[in-house]
Amino acid sequence: MSSILFYVIFLLFFSCFMRSKVEETPYKRLCSTKNILTVNGQFPGPTLYAHAGNTIVVEVCNKGNRNITIHWHGVKQQRNPWSDGPEYITQCPIQPGATFTQTIIFSSEEGTLWWHAHSEWDRATVHATYPFPKPHAEFPIILGEWWKKDIGQLYNETIQSGGDVNTSSAFLINDTFKLIVDYGKTYLLRLINSAVQEMMFFAIANHNVTVVGSDASYTKPFSTDYVTISPGQTIDLLLNADQIPNNYYIAAKAYVGGAVVPYDNTTTTAILRYHGNSNSAPTALPNIPSHNDTNASVHFTSKLKSLADKNHPVDVPHKITTHLFFTLSVNLIPCPNNSCAGPLGRRFVASVNNISFVNPTIDILQAYYYHEMTIRCISMDSISTLWDGGLEF
Ligand SMILES: *[C@@H]1O[C@H](CO)[C@@H](O)[C@H](O)[C@H]1NC(C)=O
Ligand SMILES: *[C@@H]1O[C@H](CO)[C@@H](O)[C@H](O)[C@H]1NC(C)=O
Ligand SMILES: *[C@@H]1O[C@H](CO)[C@@H](O)[C@H](O)[C@H]1NC(C)=O
Ligand SMILES: *[C@@H]1O[C@H](CO)[C@@H](O)[C@H](O)[C@H]1NC(C)=O
Ligand SMILES: *[C@@H]1O[C@H](CO)[C@@H](O)[C@H](O)[C@H]1NC(C)=O
Ligand SMILES: *[C@@H]1O[C@H](CO)[C@@H](O)[C@H](O)[C@H]1NC(C)=O
Ligand SMILES: *[C@@H]1O[C@H](CO)[C@@H](O)[C@H](O)[C@H]1NC(C)=O
Ligand SMILES: *[C@@H]1O[C@H](CO)[C@@H](O)[C@H](O)[C@H]1NC(C)=O
Ligand SMILES: *[C@@H]1O[C@H](CO)[C@@H](O)[C@H](O)[C@H]1NC(C)=O
Ligand SMILES: *[C@@H]1O[C@H](CO)[C@@H](O)[C@H](O)[C@H]1NC(C)=O
Repeated sequence: MSSILFYVIFLLFFSCFMRSKVEETPYKRLCSTKNILTVNGQFPGPTLYAHAGNTIVVEVCNKGNRNITIHWHGVKQQRNPWSDGPEYITQCPIQPGATFTQTIIFSSEEGTLWWHAHSEWDRATVHATYPFPKPHAEFPIILGEWWKKDIGQLYNETIQSGGDVNTSSAFLINDTFKLIVDYGKTYLLRLINSAVQEMMFFAIANHNVTVVGSDASYTKPFSTDYVTISPGQTIDLLLNADQIPNNYYIAAKAYVGGAVVPYDNTTTTAILRYHGNSNSAPTALPNIPSHNDTNASVHFTSKLKSLADKNHPVDVPHKITTHLFFTLSVNLIPCPNNSCAGPLGRRFVASVNNISFVNPTIDILQAYYYHEMTIRCISMDSISTLWDGGLEF
């Protein structure tokens, strides 16, 4: 699991080099101040623009006080797994004071992506020509989740207790902001859900939006009065500023599928303001589906379809030679004397085909790559243990 603390979208052309400094920065939210990890002092982090085919080299300097990695969410990174970022999967964490250089190779991605920390709970933008009329301007909008307490402490407590994570204190839209538009113009909103846990409903009062892309692929456009967005997902939206010039609320809140699961029931808001109309406060919140409206959630997601035009063909293999069956689940494992904080005194674990994952001491990619070599300070034992399914389950 990972969390939100920063996002990049840097302005770069061709192969470029940039330096990002991850550090602890005091930050005030909900009337209290805590230190959070930021990149180059910014929260959300800086933005990066790149073109398809660009390669970007990022030097990550960890000036913080805990292990960190940076994951380039949704970049395909074909034949370049060493720079992908998940800790203990493709690399060991970058320790405090250390530096790690990542090469990010953009291939066919188009639209919006993001990057985030990928260590415990410390968890971009790519565009080419649009398959829709060029918008007047574009804005990234980042949905986030905020805990008043230190998230390192929260993570440690959760791992120790085996129970659910304490619900967050509030959600954020890009921290807090006003989106200022001109009447009659069209805007591209690049919505990113960086919340750690929750799927979110998002809507703008009195305005429908047109969905045109998701996760760095264009989609068949459709108009909607609300959006459902999963953690880690990006959705590109066109907004026509065609309503009576005024101030309108933009709002987001959680969608929660489980009936008895505790959740953060707060609604986060921002303001859509038409130029020259700065006086009257917005009145009504948009109509957002209720927190448990599974039909609304599924109904939205089922409308997401590939653009599948001649410039964006969908080449899906038709001949299937091997069928693979995966079961993803959240399990409850027993604890001594039912002493854990999950239901029935048990501990939550996530599993794939009933096998859970515990961080190894070296990353899996390294173990795989050097699997037949004896140089390296990884004993053959630990590698063969890894590959014989001997990870601690
Ligand atoms: C939201 O935050 C991102 C990242 O810092 C920034 O690029 C963008 O301009 C912000 N959006 C608005 C509408 O202020
Ligand atoms: C930080 O990373 C190093 C190197 O991978 C590892 O040995 C150490 O246990 C990690 N520390 C924590 C607190 O996870
Ligand atoms: C969480 O636990 C790790 C390892 O046990 C420890 O190094 C770290 O200081 C703890 N963090 C907090 C905020 O308590
Ligand atoms: C989590 O919630 C429990 C129970 O309400 C509380 O005792 C604990 O202090 C909370 N932990 C954090 C880090 O907020
Ligand atoms: C938004 O779309 C709904 C149908 O999905 C329609 O009833 C409504 O009038 C539209 N609202 C605006 C402001 O265009
Ligand atoms: C959110 O939950 C808290 C406590 O769980 C409750 O007091 C509050 O009324 C709820 N707020 C809304 C808007 O449902
Ligand atoms: C959603 O929750 C409300 C209570 O908050 C309940 O009355 C309603 O039946 C629930 N709807 C569904 C579809 O579960
Ligand atoms: C499901 O949601 C869609 C969109 O809001 C609505 O048109 C449809 O009537 C809903 N179906 C049910 C069974 O509520
Ligand atoms: C479980 O509870 C029993 C009886 O209270 C106690 O004797 C035993 O030490 C406990 N076991 C553990 C592992 O805590
Ligand atoms: C998963 O593991 C549990 C515990 O070992 C076992 O009871 C259960 O039957 C397994 N389920 C499957 C589908 O293999």
